[in-house]
Amino acid sequence: MQDDAVRSVKERLDIVDVIGDYVALRKVGSNYRGLCPFHSEKTPSFYVSPERGSYHCFGCGAGGDLISFVMEMEGLSFVEAMELLAPRAGVTFRREGGKGGKTDAYQLLTLANRFFSENLTGKTGLPARRYLERRGIDATTARSFELGWAGESWDGLCRFLDRQGVPTRAALESGLVLEGRNGLYDRFRGRIIFPIHDVSGRVVAFGGRLVGGDGAKYINSPENELFRKRRSLYLIHKAKQGMREAGRAILVEGYTDAIRLHMHGFTNAVATLGTSLTEGQADILTRFASQCLICYDADAAGEEATLRGMYLLQSRGLDVRVVSLPEGSDPDDLLREEGGKETFQEAQRSALPLLNYHLKLRSPALQDQARRPAAAREILEKMAELPDIDTAPYLPEVASGLGLFAHQVQQTVEEYRKGRKPRAGNRPSGDVSSSAEGMQIEAEQQETPDSLESALVYLLWNGRGSGEIPPTAQVLPLLENELLAHIAAALLQGESPEELESRWLITGDRRPLRALALGAAMCDRFEESGNTLRVVLESLQRKKQQKRYLEVQERFRRGSATPEDLSLLKELGRELKGGHRHR
Ligand code: UTP
Ligand code: MN
Repeated sequence: MQDDAVRSVKERLDIVDVIGDYVALRKVGSNYRGLCPFHSEKTPSFYVSPERGSYHCFGCGAGGDLISFVMEMEGLSFVEAMELLAPRAGVTFRREGGKGGKTDAYQLLTLANRFFSENLTGKTGLPARRYLERRGIDATTARSFELGWAGESWDGLCRFLDRQGVPTRAALESGLVLEGRNGLYDRFRGRIIFPIHDVSGRVVAFGGRLVGGDGAKYINSPENELFRKRRSLYLIHKAKQGMREAGRAILVEGYTDAIRLHMHGFTNAVATLGTSLTEGQADILTRFASQCLICYDADAAGEEATLRGMYLLQSRGLDVRVVSLPEGSDPDDLLREEGGKETFQEAQRSALPLLNYHLKLRSPALQDQARRPAAAREILEKMAELPDIDTAPYLPEVASGLGLFAHQVQQTVEEYRKGRKPRAGNRPSGDVSSSAEGMQIEAEQQETPDSLESALVYLLWNGRGSGEIPPTAQVLPLLENELLAHIAAALLQGESPEELESRWLITGDRRPLRALALGAAMCDRFEESGNTLRVVLESLQRKKQQKRYLEVQERFRRGSATPEDLSLLKELGRELKGGHRHR
């Protein structure tokens, strides 16, 4: 085979870039780290080395170069993986002999894409060009988003594909060609075509907007092996870089909204394809961004299904915020108006964190005696779907919104959490603790350190608090977890993170890196609040106080309290109530 081509592909492509399309990677030293895509894990043990051009997972042992990575991820043969990567690297690669399988399906879509684009600029494209012009989409924009036109003819694409030598069977399988009583005909007719790409930029489907006449305003290609609506995001191939840079994604409803945002420099915008938000979409977004701004039409944002979707994204690790636009306008309309860009920027700046948005949405109900209990319950139940680290910063606001104390909110949410999932891992209870595997899981769960404690140690490890390293005497008492206390002590005594890390890698002890990964994830949450170290220290101190408060309270309940406990209780209560608010 063409060894040169293989070598060039490896040289010209950045392994971090290629793998970064599938896995969220963070830089650690000279390597990158992320959650292993080949086995299920909560904390990252998957490493990518740009210097060596290789990846390795300390969890499951998977490893290789960028070609083997793509083979594994996409279920491709070596040749197919090369066919995918070579164009991306600008390398010519021709396979000897036959064709078939997925590659063929991609080629067909590329052909169709070309057909639609050429139609738009060609003779029959006049009505389409007029329409786009009316909508404020000029020829350059149309080209850059590869917009196309499916003319009014019944079988324009059919005949084109036939001329290109595409077998009828393949045309039908693509869903772009349908079979009726009078023979074959095109799915898309009289519609502006929006090609839909996957993360690596391959066309996987089309959306079509009606320009005149009757019919659904938008239709999409049918789902098939290449296209799953619930795992697609319109413009993801263009937006991923913008998302990486901004650390945030903008999620809108419509194709035209996404395009308009890109036109105005919001290059981190993607659109859902007329579905509610899904886990598949969350998984894609989390690879590129940690925050997601939802920018739906006012009515849609409040809908039950949308709210559920937003909680789903949040529970998959995204910091979800809701952008409210002026009543009745979508981003496309707004940005076409005079001063629209500024209005949008302002709306983006004042996006509400999901819980605050939910509180605001329910505030009329919360102020109404009769509807209040149901509304409060709904909010607390939604909170219970989220991990502790997501809800902790909002306890004071939720508490004041619901007219409760923060610790009451905390307690109720914890009860709901217990009720929601009696066991981690969706196993039937009963046989778990009796099996050896169950005990193993139990042990691992007990070992999982507290996320705030991990965050503190991560900050020490990462040297981010370097300006003002807190005194050992302040740090160590806050760490209940033995492992974390141990790491902190080593770091505070001046051991270097590199030394420690290489020691762990050699001994194969994965717990420290897992704990640090947990801490890193936690710190991402706090990043905005400026001084992360201070916020983490305060949160930990506060948590300690809360624990002591509950202990003293418990002594009162059991009647074993001492006179000192009374003043202690008062003092702790006062401190907790006057507590800090981190937005
Ligand atoms: P909207 O009706 O809000 O359309 O649907 P829009 O984006 O503002 O469209 P324009 O500006 O009139 O062209 C939002 C999204 O819902 C899906 C499409 O993905 C659309 O972009 N949709 C809408 C459908 O799938 N089918 C429809 O009939 C309508
Ligand atoms: Mn619109």
